[in-house]
Amino acid sequence: MRPHHRPTPRVTRLLGSLLLVAAAGTFVAGAAPTPEVAAEEAARKARPLGEVVPAPASVAPGGSPYRITRDTRIRVGASQEVRRIGEYAAKVLRPSTGYPLPVTASGGQDGIRLRLAKGAFGAEGYRLDSGAKGVTITAAKPAGLFHGVQTLRQLLPAAVEKDSVQPGPWLIAGGTVKDSPRYGWRGAMLDVSRHFFTVDQVKRYVDQLALYKVNKLHLHLSDDQGWRIAVDSWPRLATHGGSTQVGGGPGGFYTKADYKEIVRYAASRYLEVVPEIDMPGHTNAALASYAELNCDGVAPPLYTGTDVGFSSLCVSKDVTYDFVDDVIRELAALTPGRYLHIGGDEAHSTSHEDYVTFMARVQPVVAKYGKTVVGWHQLTGATPAKGAVAQYWGLDGTSAEEKERVAAAARNGTGIVLSPADRIYLDMKYTADTPLGLDWAGLVEVERSYDWDPGNYLPGVPASAVRGVEAPLWTETITKSDDIEYMAFPRLAGAAELGWSPAATHDWDTYKVRLAAQGPRWEALGIDYYRSPQVPWPAR
Ligand code: ACM
Repeated sequence: MRPHHRPTPRVTRLLGSLLLVAAAGTFVAGAAPTPEVAAEEAARKARPLGEVVPAPASVAPGGSPYRITRDTRIRVGASQEVRRIGEYAAKVLRPSTGYPLPVTASGGQDGIRLRLAKGAFGAEGYRLDSGAKGVTITAAKPAGLFHGVQTLRQLLPAAVEKDSVQPGPWLIAGGTVKDSPRYGWRGAMLDVSRHFFTVDQVKRYVDQLALYKVNKLHLHLSDDQGWRIAVDSWPRLATHGGSTQVGGGPGGFYTKADYKEIVRYAASRYLEVVPEIDMPGHTNAALASYAELNCDGVAPPLYTGTDVGFSSLCVSKDVTYDFVDDVIRELAALTPGRYLHIGGDEAHSTSHEDYVTFMARVQPVVAKYGKTVVGWHQLTGATPAKGAVAQYWGLDGTSAEEKERVAAAARNGTGIVLSPADRIYLDMKYTADTPLGLDWAGLVEVERSYDWDPGNYLPGVPASAVRGVEAPLWTETITKSDDIEYMAFPRLAGAAELGWSPAATHDWDTYKVRLAAQGPRWEALGIDYYRSPQVPWPAR
C-alpha cells in the first residue's frame, strides 16, 4: 500500500461566531461549563453540516446541533413505507449507539422525524432540519426520506457504522440541508457473468450504493463466460450456460426467486434493477447451451477466457427471435423497473447489416413487454427505438465520428447515460501497481475519475439528453466482495456525486476533503478501499 498524506486541516465557521475550529476535533477539559459554552462545545464536536458525499444542493449551517440520546425516538407517522425507512435508520443507529431508538407513529416535534409532505422536493429530494430538539427529514416521496437518512448517517461520526457500542457523542450539526439530484439515473453496473456473485454479495454492494444515493443497479446477466438468470423456456441457458466463469470456476446463476429477492432488496433501498442480456455479441454461453442458435447448428464449447468479439447470435434464423422473445418476456415479467438493457456492444462477429437488422427486430420486443430499451452506445450505429437510452462507454481517444454518431442520436431524442471508460469504469487500475483490474482504457486515479462534467462531456450532446451517470464494474479479475470494494471505493463515491450534485458544487479540492472523511466510515463498515495518495485521508 502506498503512503498517504497527512490530513488537510479543515476550517469551518460555526454559529455565526468568529470562532474558527479545526473540524478534525477539539476537546475541552475543566470545570462545568455554562449552557452557552456547553452548546458551543457540542457544536464544535459535530461534523460540519454538508460534509457529505454526494455534496448536497444547499447547506445552511446554524444553531445548536441535535444530540441522539438514550431517549431519542424515531417518529414516522402512519405510513407503512415511512415506518420501514425508520426501521432501516434504527438498524444503522442502534448497534453503535446502544440506544433503543424506538420507531413510533406517535406525534411530537423532538427526536428523529421522517415526514412526507407536499413541497418542491421532486421524486428523490428532501430537506433536513437539525436543531437542539431534533432532526426532521421532510420529502414528498419515500425515496427522498431514504436519501435524507443517508445524509443523516454521514453527518454522524464514522463510528456510527460500527456494529458494537461506541462512545459517541452522537451529534448532528444544526442547520438546514435542502437537496435533490441533478440526474434521475445514478447507476452502478455489476458484471455477474465473468465471475458470478451470490445474492448476498449483490445485497452487500446494494447497501454500499445506497449510502451514496445511487438509484440504479444494472446487472450484466449474460456474456460469453456465463448466463446467470433462469429462463424456464430455455433451461439450459442457466444450467449449462451458467456452469462456469472466467478461469473455469463453477459459475452459478440466479433462480427466479433469487433474482426477485435482489429486485426486492434493491427496491427497499430505492434502487431500480436494470437487467442486461447482451446481444447479439457476447453470447457464447447461450450459443454453447443451444446448438440451434448457431448459424452452423453446432454448439461451441463453454468459454472461460477473457477475449471479446468472437460470438454472435444467428441473425438470419427465425429461432433466434423466438429465443429473444422468450428471454425478454420472462425477464420483463420478473422486473418491475422500466428498463431492459439489450447490450449491443462489441458485436465484432456480426456484420453491420446484420446488426442493424437484429436491433430493428429486437427493440420492438422490449417495447412489447412494456420496457424501455437501453443499449451500449453502439446501438446508435443502428436505429435506436423511440425513447431508447444509449450508454456511452467511450474514452478520450474514441473517434470524433463515433462520438458524433452518439451526439446525433441524442439530438434525435435518444437519452444518454455516461459511463466513460477512462473515467468511471471501476475495473480500470488506479495505477500500474493496482493488483486487480485491467488497463485498456488507461490508469484511472481518483481525481481523474471525479474531475469531469456529465453536462458537457460529449460534444454536440444537448445537456437535456443526458439522463445521468453510471459506474460499471467488469469482473474479469474480480472474484469476491473485497475485490469489488477495492475497485469501487473511492471512485464509486465520485461517480455518485457526479450524478447527484449540482455542477456548481464540483470542485476537486473540496471534494477530496469530503471524500477523505469517508475513509473511516468505510473502515467502520468493513469496506476494503484504495487509499489513494491523492486524497488526504485521516491517519489511522
Ligand atoms: C463494454 O465495455 N464492452 C460495454
